[in-house]
Amino acid sequence: KKEPRKRPSLITDINSVESNFCILEELKNIFEVAIGSAYPDLEDPPIIITLSGNNPKFGDYQCNSSMAIAQLLKAKNVKTNPREVANNILNKTPTSPLIEKIEVAGAGFLNIYLNKSLVEHVLNSIFRFGIKPPPVKRERVIVDFSSPNIAKEMHVGHLRSTIIGDSICRLLEFLEHDVLRINHLGDWGTQFGMLIAHLQDKFPNYKTHSPPISDLQAFYKESKKRFDEDEVFKKRAYACVVKLQSGDPDYIAAWKKICEVSRLEFQKIYDHLDIKIIDRGESFYQDRMVATVKYLKENGYLEEDEGRYIMWGNPDTHEGIPLTIVKSDGGYTYDTSDMATIRQRVEEEKGDRFIYVTDAGQHTHFVTIEACAKRAGILKPHQKVENVVFGVVLGEDKKKFKTRSGDTIKLIDLIEEGLKRSLEKLVEKGRDKVLNPEELEKAQKAVAYGCIKYADLSHNRVNDYVFSFDKMLDDKGNTAVYLLYALTRIRSIARTAQISEEALLAEAKKTGFKLTHEAEWKLGKVLLRLPEVILKVANDLYLHSLCEYLYEISSAFTEFYDKCYCVEKDKDGKIVKIYYERLMLCEVTARLMEKCLDILGIKTVSKM
Ligand code: ARG
Repeated sequence: KKEPRKRPSLITDINSVESNFCILEELKNIFEVAIGSAYPDLEDPPIIITLSGNNPKFGDYQCNSSMAIAQLLKAKNVKTNPREVANNILNKTPTSPLIEKIEVAGAGFLNIYLNKSLVEHVLNSIFRFGIKPPPVKRERVIVDFSSPNIAKEMHVGHLRSTIIGDSICRLLEFLEHDVLRINHLGDWGTQFGMLIAHLQDKFPNYKTHSPPISDLQAFYKESKKRFDEDEVFKKRAYACVVKLQSGDPDYIAAWKKICEVSRLEFQKIYDHLDIKIIDRGESFYQDRMVATVKYLKENGYLEEDEGRYIMWGNPDTHEGIPLTIVKSDGGYTYDTSDMATIRQRVEEEKGDRFIYVTDAGQHTHFVTIEACAKRAGILKPHQKVENVVFGVVLGEDKKKFKTRSGDTIKLIDLIEEGLKRSLEKLVEKGRDKVLNPEELEKAQKAVAYGCIKYADLSHNRVNDYVFSFDKMLDDKGNTAVYLLYALTRIRSIARTAQISEEALLAEAKKTGFKLTHEAEWKLGKVLLRLPEVILKVANDLYLHSLCEYLYEISSAFTEFYDKCYCVEKDKDGKIVKIYYERLMLCEVTARLMEKCLDILGIKTVSKM
């Protein structure tokens, strides 16, 4: 028999609750205890807690376990129904300062009403002590993202990987995990042979004079053309690869030069978007590939197949496709490098989580890598490869994203266009007359970079998405522009009231929060959901939930602000009454929105 599960410890005193309190987690704990004592013989009963939705009739949260439990009991020949189960659970639910009351409703739902004083207390802690991450077990997480290829262009797919990957890192860093941000650059492989051979011909003194290759893509195309058409050149290119992989200093120097040119181009994009990432390309794994191939061979994981060495995830069923570990010419492949990479991340980096942000087209590759790494004992049974996949970027015509003339879009051009359009939008709204040049530039950048990132992050990443500056720059709807405006408006409320943060803080200490009006209560409850949303996203890595939450905050705020005065003025515009608790609510709203935007990698401005 299984050991009885440790009962979670429940909160008993409101004052012990901190600003990072997660309502959903606590409800799960409460109902785990309740269901555990109502049905001690059920092993791992389902604990299903959800938000109740918009109708206040259904309470704030719901426990929907009764139906599933009734099913489980029926399977054991116990005669019962969900409503009876719900009542049994209710009778065993421990009292909690979190819960005002619970009602059994409908087919057997348990509607949970939250206790207002607890919500007020947590808001006060957020206001006084700041936003804190919900506590989690600290993990070492390796996030492989962006990862463009040297001498090839960095395309919109890499842009998506960069934006999504950076935001995942920010979220995990907020949770205080130990995050390693890796740029797995495609900087190794046979293509470097032809690039080096071409470099030797075109810029023979490359060792002393940095080659003036401004357009590396054109350079790549030229050398590819020669490689395809000229047998002699092709032979030389192969010889160059051998020299390079054996570490010949001249060849290493040429290779470095080529990488440098690409790197400078990539860095421009990272600078614009404020991306921090460590370069560790495929070349880093050269020796480790040799060692990994040896390990796989010696342990009998490789099969010979027409001169190549392949590895199956499952050698008995031969399901899926095998990895090509060694080509018939003895060379290594993308598969070889990812096997060496996962091994390095497990054994040297001591990673707990292995995240790879790539387009959905690479998913099969990573499924196979996981299967083979498990089979070879590189990954332990509980460890997995988390391939965070995303869809294709489409143009407004729903076809592959291209320029009008049909060329692929250069990322730097795209970003520059974003900057241009963002400025136009601000000027159109007359902001250039209100803001000084420095403020205007700040707003321009926040909007441009913000809208590109938010448009990507706010959609379910697995879907393809249509890139449209018109849509992203709309100031209505769930867009970065709308949210940035909403935020500056909230920030300006306290400014008009001319109440300093110190004065507000003193009020908070004295009176605390009071959620009297229905709209205040509604907003307050939304504001407390950050930990819940963060924990969900940290688990499933779907950032659009965080964007939806952000939009929910701002909608709840709008409703509150429509219905509740924060400052009352007389006919002459003189302030006659200040509602301190409401200004405090504005402050907490603003801070939470800023935190969410920060996790999404979006910079905020105080004026816009
Ligand atoms: N360089 C690859 C590409 O452009 C992405 C690399 C992803 N990371 C990895 N470990 N395979 O498609």
